[in-house]
Amino acid sequence: MIYIRSEQEIAKLKESNRINYETLTMLSKEIKPGVTTRKLDKLAENFIKSQNGKPAFKGYHGYPATLCTSINEEVVHGIPSERKLKKGDIIGIDVGTFKDGYYGDAAYTFYVGELSSEDEKLLRVTKESLYIGIKKAQPGARLSDIGNSIQNHVEKNGFSVVRVLVGHGIGRELHEAPEIPNFGEAGKGPIIKAGMCFAIEPMVNVGNYSVSTLSDNWTVVTSDKKKSAHFEHSIIITKNGPVIMADKENGSIDFYGQRKID
Ligand code: MF3
Ligand code: CO
Repeated sequence: MIYIRSEQEIAKLKESNRINYETLTMLSKEIKPGVTTRKLDKLAENFIKSQNGKPAFKGYHGYPATLCTSINEEVVHGIPSERKLKKGDIIGIDVGTFKDGYYGDAAYTFYVGELSSEDEKLLRVTKESLYIGIKKAQPGARLSDIGNSIQNHVEKNGFSVVRVLVGHGIGRELHEAPEIPNFGEAGKGPIIKAGMCFAIEPMVNVGNYSVSTLSDNWTVVTSDKKKSAHFEHSIIITKNGPVIMADKENGSIDFYGQRKID
């Protein structure tokens, strides 16, 4: 079943998501050549704990870290390690916070040091597709309208949408009903209602949508080894439309790596 959350619950979801986005903002200043993904993980864990939150991924089905750090052809669920970031890498960082009974889930793909025009297009199109999908999450719309709009935007730009991993409801569990694919026909599935809370998270490949999992049993990589990007927001559906939980009234939460963009 898809839960309808009360105002009090939404306040708690927003708090967990605030911590997530402040974590990503803090990390955006630390991402540079030579930094290990383990260092980023430690910084994130310390920050989340300083906010009285708990890293939501650590221990989830045995996942060993606070962040998922997915570099270049890694799509999602890359495990932080002693690997050092290199100039020209792109890194997807996925973070989850649990606080006061409720979860936050967010992801952003950053560039390291410099951004090629091909990678700029991948990051831009993936991020645009997230916002296009969010805009479709209107009360009265059908759930599959979200994924359909994401897929259209991505494929129009010559990229592909990962099929085997999907967005999800979020609340008292990290992953709740419904599943939210980033592809498919419009006009299908449940009707979206005010009070529903979703994590929308397009994963976009430069090449084919086919992916596989490495022998660490976590890291998902593109089969053709081309790059992939991932952006995720947790949102609440209000009677006036979707609201990004981490959004502040006065600030942009959009940034690429060290460079803030509008
Ligand atoms: N953010 C990921 C998701 O949306 C969660 C990572 S799951 C973990 O589904 F297992 F890696 F923790
Ligand atoms: Co998620």
